[in-house]
Amino acid sequence: MIEQKDFPLLHHNTFGINVTAARFIEYGSVQELRDLIAAGRFPDSFLHIGRGSNLLFLDDYDGTVLHSAIKTIEVMEETPDAIRLKVGSGVVWDDFVVRCVACNWYGAENLSAIPGEVGAGAVQNIGAYGVEAKDLITEVHTINSEGVERIYSHADCRFAYRNSIFHALSGRGVVVTHVCFRLSKHESYTLNYGTVRKELENCPAITLGAVREAITRIRNGKLPDPAVLGSAGSFFMNPVVPEATFEAIRRDHPSIPSYPAAGGGIKIPAGWLIEQSGWKGRSLGPAAVYDKQALVLVNTGGATGRDILALSDAVRASVKEKFGIDIRPEVKIISRWK
Ligand code: EPU
Repeated sequence: MIEQKDFPLLHHNTFGINVTAARFIEYGSVQELRDLIAAGRFPDSFLHIGRGSNLLFLDDYDGTVLHSAIKTIEVMEETPDAIRLKVGSGVVWDDFVVRCVACNWYGAENLSAIPGEVGAGAVQNIGAYGVEAKDLITEVHTINSEGVERIYSHADCRFAYRNSIFHALSGRGVVVTHVCFRLSKHESYTLNYGTVRKELENCPAITLGAVREAITRIRNGKLPDPAVLGSAGSFFMNPVVPEATFEAIRRDHPSIPSYPAAGGGIKIPAGWLIEQSGWKGRSLGPAAVYDKQALVLVNTGGATGRDILALSDAVRASVKEKFGIDIRPEVKIISRWK
């Protein structure tokens, strides 16, 4: 267990914002959490982070930041058809994907090369190239600030687009300790999203490894490496609008891309709206809209959280003015107190 005051968060947020946490606790097991609770040292309120790949810190954080270092991967059940795994919330998401690909377990390959950790992946229901974490998750194990453990079934998790019940529960003292996944042992792929199939055209055979490599190439072409250029992946969510709103925009912009949204309405790529609003590649101080994917905001060097927020506000205002749509940040914005 690590417990430290005035802890630097520079390497715990992929935007590379130089802030501190008044208190930082990293636990390596459920038992360590139980010990903290028993000793009365478990915080009343906290911010639980993974790799900090979906956070924007505006200020030094006055409260306690929690981080999981539970790194176990256990096989719960194996049949000729499938495998069920119980994975610690602190396992690096891409290490989990690598393990699945190496063992010929199908389902996680499209989620290759996503920064972050397994617990946050479930909380955020991460998604890419036609697959979301919820498609693989069977249940989520938690403990609360009173030491009560609860297993959430898939239905209990209330997964939605980049959302789950755990966003709200985190504010009520609930910590995700493990995530259970079911992977198939039967060969099957999801290749119909965007350029995935095209990227595989020159591969002699479609295999899990080939799909992982194709996805990684597509991502690397569009998304900055946080080790080189600070960012939090997509900064905004793709908005869902009523059909009538979409048709009104399409009259003036016949080439507008769109997808039917799961719960009705039309989903429009926010990256397209931002590009059409003239922001792709533009900077505001040390914050910029990434030149290869307008949905991504980047720290071009020494930006504060407020520099990034100022750019986000300016981009939102332009999109609102041009299209009448308010695009909402996907990234969680953290001020002094959450
Ligand atoms: N587009 C533009 N200009 C841009 C960017 C995108 O016109 O600068 C248009 C293009 O028409 C493109 C379409 O938007 O065809 C969709 O772009 P892309 O396939 O890159 O996906 P996205 O909707 O921009 C979402 C996720 C990504 C995920 C990709 C692939 C969200 C908020 N983002 O982006 O997730 O990797 O799909 O599945 O849903 C993340 O959440 O951090 C993230 C990177």
